[in-house]
Amino acid sequence: MIFESHAHYDDEAFYEDREELLASFAEKGIGTVINVGASLESCRKTLQMMEQYPFVYGAMGVHPSETAELTEEGLGWLRTQCALDKVIAVGEIGLDYYWKEPAIPVQKKWFERQLELAREVKLPVIIHSRDAAKDTLDLMQALHAEEIGGVVHCYSYTKEMAKEYGKMDFYFGIGGVITFKNAKKLKEAVEWIPLERILLETDSPYLAPEPNRGKRNSSLNLPYIAQAIAELKKVSYEEVVEITRQNAQRLFFSKH
Ligand code: NI
Repeated sequence: MIFESHAHYDDEAFYEDREELLASFAEKGIGTVINVGASLESCRKTLQMMEQYPFVYGAMGVHPSETAELTEEGLGWLRTQCALDKVIAVGEIGLDYYWKEPAIPVQKKWFERQLELAREVKLPVIIHSRDAAKDTLDLMQALHAEEIGGVVHCYSYTKEMAKEYGKMDFYFGIGGVITFKNAKKLKEAVEWIPLERILLETDSPYLAPEPNRGKRNSSLNLPYIAQAIAELKKVSYEEVVEITRQNAQRLFFSKH
């Protein structure tokens, strides 16, 4: 069964058919799904989904672009949720310089605070980093993120940068971009990244892989991503599915 390590089924793109869609996952080979919080509101919806679906687990965190809403009270609320059994990570957290909103110091402050939260509650982190490779790495090194562990989700940087994150024993979330014809840089990185460090993800509803590029994404597209990785790594599709499932189990469930 495929392990979906990053999706947003609380998104309004799924309001009309979420029930039906998630009910179809088991027969389509999708086993476990991590629904990733991006704002306090999406964390609340994630908690509801965790209760409703046995195969859905949750990550609690606020995306860098949403950090203007964070307060000590909000952080305290996140800390409380992290004690729940089915909360298996802090995320998604990080830096986003594509959208420089809120200002960089605000993003950095809450990235640090949420990294510290993960250390405190002993959960791995799910990192969002866009156009901010160096600052993300510097901040993670300064806070000894290698002691916390986690995944750089939707990895999109170079092979050289992957080596740096690899030194901290981080995993790499690989999604739909790997199927795009122009993703040369990412393909080079994935050729280097050991299969034992790769997690499958979609980031649904965003970033649908070929041949569904541009449409609403869902975990049903994960086989296209696994197939693209299998071709790059010169291993079987089944091996990619099985090894990435084991990787996700090791990262997210070993502390429970
Ligand atoms: Ni995401």
